[in-house]
Formats: sequence, structure tokens, C-alpha cells
Amino acid sequence: MNVLLIGSGGREHALAWKLSQSSLLTSLHVAPGNAGTTGLGEQADLDPMDFAAVERYVKRHDIDQVVVGPEAPLVAGLADYLLDSDKVDVQVVGPRAAGAELEGSKDFAKQFMKRHNIPTARYGSFTGEQLEAAIAFLDEFQPPYVLKADGLAAGKGVIITESRKEAEATLRDMLSGESFGEAGRRVVIEEFLDGIEVSMFCVTDGHSFKMLPSAKDYKRVGEGDQGPNTGGMGAVSPVPFVTPEFQEKAMNQIVIPTIKGLEKDGIPYCGFVFFGLIKVGGDPYVIEYNCRLGDPETEVILPRVKSDLLHLFDSLCTGMLTEVDMAIDPRAASTVILASAGYPGAYEKGVEIEGLEAAAGIDGVVFHAGTKESRRKVYTAGGRVLALTGFGMDLEAALKNSYRLAARVGFEGGFYRKDIGADVLEEAH
Ligand code: AMP
Ligand code: GLY
Repeated sequence: MNVLLIGSGGREHALAWKLSQSSLLTSLHVAPGNAGTTGLGEQADLDPMDFAAVERYVKRHDIDQVVVGPEAPLVAGLADYLLDSDKVDVQVVGPRAAGAELEGSKDFAKQFMKRHNIPTARYGSFTGEQLEAAIAFLDEFQPPYVLKADGLAAGKGVIITESRKEAEATLRDMLSGESFGEAGRRVVIEEFLDGIEVSMFCVTDGHSFKMLPSAKDYKRVGEGDQGPNTGGMGAVSPVPFVTPEFQEKAMNQIVIPTIKGLEKDGIPYCGFVFFGLIKVGGDPYVIEYNCRLGDPETEVILPRVKSDLLHLFDSLCTGMLTEVDMAIDPRAASTVILASAGYPGAYEKGVEIEGLEAAAGIDGVVFHAGTKESRRKVYTAGGRVLALTGFGMDLEAALKNSYRLAARVGFEGGFYRKDIGADVLEEAH
């Protein structure tokens, strides 16, 4: 099969790495990819938001399957465009816009969960004309207040604050369109849930589904979960507090009702569902849905999937998902993000990365996130630069390998969190 993979981050390098191990793969194209994917496939010089250009590429290169990494093209309707095209006949891994709304609109997701009795925080939803009502609604909750811009905001649309004054000011800024543009013209206000977060994933054709390993992501930039939110500074899989009991609750109360809910609502879905869960007093609640895999979660879950990924995707797209045998490696994986100085604020690009060859011999993989190759040298090209994935018999061993990689690979100003996984190890001991 000829596969076109859309995206350029660590998630896409991990997808490309796993796809390239498939015996079903004839050629891999990555649009636009990074320095890590260049050795695995052809770089497609494409803007994924230019759907007509993607369609032309699919036709020209005889692409059989398009795998969409990030959410933005899905929410904007790339899957619909390709599946409804009379110019190409192609499989798409990633939902149509109707299903991607689970991520594209917080209000839609909350209504969906309410309709299908899926546990989530209590909430209210308000538009630009309802500022007074929104402010009054804050009285329903104790601080901290949780305010969410309805639309896509590149992971920055959630504001959590102890201060009533700041909550009101944030509501004003969001609802007026000042802080997040159109994405913030509707706001979801919800109850703060106090617990520990875990990411769970399934791949589904909208009827049946297969679970992928779960992972824990470290979102704050600083050690001890301090400082601003980032795209994610590291991840571990498996997650020790996802006990068989918790897993069963999550399946029965969240995963199955979500797939059934999509079916009942007549929403077609072919791709990944990312369940951002929080465990409160032993019970799972949905914090958010995403219509794609997580980054950096993918860098720890895909290496643990033993099954052929392209076979899984092909089965997904041809109605054969129930026939697939998902084999998961019991070994653990961890990933530590090496980021540019200043991230998640402003940072420099174009710094040379050194020591990549020294990674050989360590039980792990260096996944590229924001990198670029030029004349056989690799340079930084983003805030999150590398995802240093380590493997081991248990998390402790895996983390050792991630940090061994961190000691060998680097660039000027690069930094990483030294406490990835420390909390779950402590709890497990
Ligand atoms: P999101 O962009 O929806 O993933 O939210 C970003 C982060 O905000 C989440 O990963 C949580 O840490 C936090 N968060 C979101 N909603 C809640 C909530 N209702 N209670 C507590 N924390 C939340
Ligand atoms: N790591 C969280 C996300 O991909 O949204």
C-alpha cells in the first residue's frame, strides 16, 4: 500500500516508524514530516489544510491510505473532502468533521456526554451575548474556576484560576473574541475535578473498537508539575494506577457509551478516539475528547503495539476491525521531551542537534518532533524538539533509558524535565 501520513511532530515520526515496519507498506509519504521521517519515507511538500492539494497528491502518487496525525485538518473536514471526492478512491484514518467535533467543540462534547450519560464535570455553556449569565454561573462552583474556549486553541484554551476576578476578566476576554478569536466566542464553564489524569485511546470504525495502551502525559513545563502548560513534556506507558478495575470502569462507563453514542447519533467515525480522563476517588471522568492520537503519548504507546499498524488501519477502513488481534508488549515505555530554551514561550530555531548517533546501543528510539535536516545535519525547528523514548521490563528501567538518551543527545539551551514518571513510580512503591 502507498500511505500518505499528515503531520510533522513526534507523533508522526512514531507513526511513520511503526508504519515503516509493516510488510503491507509499499511507499510512505509524509506531509510535511521532519528530519526523523526523511529516512522513512518521501517528504511531501504539502499544506494539509489545502485539501485540493492533498487530493492532487493522492492522485499523482497513487496513495491508498491517508493517515491524519493532527486535529486541525480533521476538524476542518479533510476526511470528508477525500472520502467524498470523485477524483480519488482512498482510505482515510481520521474521522469526518462531524466526529472530529468531539475535539473541535467543547460544547458539542459536553452535550454529547450529557446525552449519553458519560461521566464528566458539571458545566454550563455561554455565548458572547451571555456574559452576565456566565459570570453569575461562576457562583455554582467553588474555586478554582475552569473556563474553556469552545473551539480549537492549540492546547491553550483552558484557563484554571483560583481568582474570581481573573475568572470574570477571562470570561470577558474570551466572549468578546479578544483572547481566542472565534474559538473563544463560546465558553464552557465547568466544575474543577481533583484527581490524577490518564490518556486512553481506541481505534474505532464507529461500531467496533480496539483499545491501545494507556499513557500518562506530563503537561506542565516544570518539575513537580509547575509552570505553564505545554503540549506535553513526557509520557509513560503503562500507567500503574490504571488497574484492571479502573480499566473496566473506564470501558463500561466511558469507552463503550462513547462508541454507542456515536452510533446512536448517526455520527460516522473512522479513526482514533483519545479519552482524556481523570481518576477521582477511583472513578473515571472525561476531561476532554480528542479525535487523534496524543503527542507525546504516541511515542510510548505505538512502540508497545506488537501488531502490524498498517494491517490494523486497513482492517479499520474495510470493516474488518473485529478480525484484528491486538497484541500489546508487556514491556514499559517512557519518553522525555527535549525542548528549546524558552518553550512554551518564544524560542530560537535552527540550533544544531548533537549526539544523535550516540543513541545507538541504548534500548530506545529518538523520535523527532521539531527538527529539520539540512546538508546532513539536524537542526531544531520547534519548541518540542525530540522525544527520547526508552524501553524496559518496567517503567523504572524504561525511564533509565530515556535519561541515558538525554545525557547523550542535545543542543545548546535544550532542556528536559528530570521527574517524568517519578510520581507514578512513587505511588507504585
Ligand atoms: P484540555 O485542554 O481540555 O486537556 O485541558 C487542559 C488541562 O486542564 C487538562 O489536562 C487538565 O489538567 C486541566 N483541566 C481541564 N478541565 C478540568 C477540570 N474540569 N478539572 C480539573 N482540571 C481540568
Ligand atoms: N499530550 C496531549 C495531547 O496530545 O493533546
